[in-house]
This record gives sequence, structure tokens and C-alpha cells, in this order.
Amino acid sequence: MRRHTAFAPEPYRLHDGRELIVRPIRPDDAAELQALAGRLSAHALRLRFFSPITAARLAALERGHFFPHLAEVDFKERGAWVAHVPGEAAIRAVGRYQRQSDPAEAEIAFVVEEPFQGQGVCTELLHHLAAYANTLGIYRLIAVVLAENIGMIEVLRQSGYPYRMVGEGEVDRLTLDIASPAKD
Ligand SMILES: CC(C)(COP(=O)(O)OP(=O)(O)OC[C@H]1O[C@@H](n2cnc3c(N)ncnc32)[C@H](O)[C@@H]1OP(=O)(O)O)[C@@H](O)C(=O)NCCC(=O)NCCS
Repeated sequence: MRRHTAFAPEPYRLHDGRELIVRPIRPDDAAELQALAGRLSAHALRLRFFSPITAARLAALERGHFFPHLAEVDFKERGAWVAHVPGEAAIRAVGRYQRQSDPAEAEIAFVVEEPFQGQGVCTELLHHLAAYANTLGIYRLIAVVLAENIGMIEVLRQSGYPYRMVGEGEVDRLTLDIASPAKD
């Protein structure tokens, strides 16, 4: 498992040979986050935003009205990493964490634009988040995922971190233990 430098932009080679740059989010990414929301399918938006979202907010997201504040992070209580093609502004994937009331825990969420799915991008973002979270004293990453979201569940199960998975009705709660490096 290669080591991830917490804050430096890093190239990531997709399974099919394309390249992305993975870097921490910046406030001026807000417009590109909105553009990304406009390119995502309704299905992807529902999988990503199912829990806190109302029908009106989902409809707004489907029209590409994202939440600019999602680019505003302090990299302590919450932070995010994004991925883009070298030389392009368009953001193709986002992974974020939000620290919980137990400061050793953070909730995580991801979205990868469809043409870049199945290429290991989410897994790469997860490792960046985990490496950085560890430096903040965060040792457990929690994902609350729709039980039907096999893709996200498999990413987490195959991440190499020990995990617990608890079913809570229509959602599953997966807790990754990131205190030690992930196993290959
Ligand atoms: C879930 C999601 C983030 C996964 O992103 P991704 O970049 O395609 O995932 P990865 O390529 O890193 O997948 C890693 C492994 O998980 C498994 N996996 C990923 N998607 C899968 C799927 N749909 N079905 C089965 N296994 C899957 C594969 O085993 C894959 O390993 P491989 O590359 O060796 O085949 C992406 O599909 C997405 O954006 N979905 C919509 C939004 C969403 O569901 N967000 C999660 C809410 S927290």
C-alpha cells in the first residue's frame, strides 16, 4: 500500500491508464462542485445525498444547484479532497469527512462522476482522507450508506481497513478502523 502525503496534490493513475490529480479542496472550487452536481445522474445524487436531503433540495441538486459552502472547510472539523484531470478545472470526484461528537470519529462521504467510476478513485480518496484524519487524531471513519449501495459498501469492505458493519433499516453503518495502515 503506497503512503499518501497528507496535503500535497498527487497524481493517481486510473485502472485504465488515465490520470487524475488528487488534492485538498479549495474555496474557489465551489463553482466546479456545482458543475459536478449538474453532471451527476439522479441515481448518483440520491445515493450520495439520501439522508439529510429533502425532495426540494434533491430537485435543486439535479438542476446543478450545489451547496457552495461544501467548498468551505477548515481541515479540522471537516475537510475534503477532490480529483481532476491534469490541466482541467472540472472536478470529477469528491471525498469528505466531518468530525463527530466523539473527536476520534469522522463521518465520510464520496461521489465519483460516472465516467470515472470503477477506476479506484474512491479508494484513492479514502486513503487520502484516512492518512490526513490520522494526523488529527481521528481513528474511526464512519459511512452511513443506503443498504442498496453495493458499490460504496464494497469500496469500504475492500479498503484494507478492519471494519464493522451494522444494518439500521434502509441504511448500513460501516465503521473503518484507520488507526493502522490499510492492508493490501
Ligand atoms: C460509490 C462510489 C463513490 C464508488 O466510487 P468508485 O471510484 O467507482 O470506487 P472504486 O473504483 O474505488 O471501487 C473500489 C472497489 O469497490 C468495488 N466496487 C466499486 N463499485 C462497485 C459496484 N458498483 N459493485 C460492486 N463492487 C463495486 C470493486 O471491487 C472495486 O474494486 P476494483 O476496482 O478492484 O474492481 C461511486 O460509485 C459513486 O460516486 N456512487 C454515487 C454516489 C455514492 O453512492 N456515494 C456514496 C455515499 S457515502
